[in-house]
Amino acid sequence: MSTQQLTIRPLGYSDLPQVIAIERRAFPSPWSLAMFVLELSKPSSICLAAVEPQRARPGRLLGYVICSRYADVWHVMNIAVDPPRRRRGIATALLEGVIAGAGENESFTLEVRPSNPGAIALYQRFGFRTAGTRPRYYQDTGEDAVIMWRTPESAAAEALNARHPASETT
Ligand code: COA
Repeated sequence: MSTQQLTIRPLGYSDLPQVIAIERRAFPSPWSLAMFVLELSKPSSICLAAVEPQRARPGRLLGYVICSRYADVWHVMNIAVDPPRRRRGIATALLEGVIAGAGENESFTLEVRPSNPGAIALYQRFGFRTAGTRPRYYQDTGEDAVIMWRTPESAAAEALNARHPASETT
């Protein structure tokens, strides 16, 4: 999917019915409507929507991201893409929007299930690195959470690895 076929804009309350529909398809333990309302109400949150461009199916939501600032760190709280529209760069465009909005030199963190290698691969491409685990973080399965951090240094190292894959280090 090219960027001409995708619009990234602020997520609004009127998007929430479509958000809830995607959320229920995306997660075994979806967020409630109240959780999205709370995040949207915070001035310190960056909440973005990926939508169809005006000429295709105007307003159709393809994915969303919620990122909140606590103290000096941005927390990627939620990101999901409509299942039939995955692997077309939509989550990439959403994360690029969050990082541009927060600032390339900011630090970001998130939790992800170890059973979600696709999301982990996505985050690694953005320079997120594993920094530990939170035992039994997910109440539905009792799974640990993998904690990942993206710092300006890890992002720069990932950008270098992407340009020179032969020199990649772990
Ligand atoms: N398997 C392996 N790698 C994957 C992947 C998967 N299922 N999904 C994404 N990636 C990696 C790939 O490197 C991919 O690049 P490529 O397609 O050129 O190989 C890269 O991430 C970028 O993927 P992108 O197309 O931008 O991601 P997406 O729009 O498909 O959205 C998720 C990715 C994770 C948001 C989407 O699969 C989703 O909504 N999953 C359910 C909700 C979820 O797990 N959210 C994360 C919670 S921590």
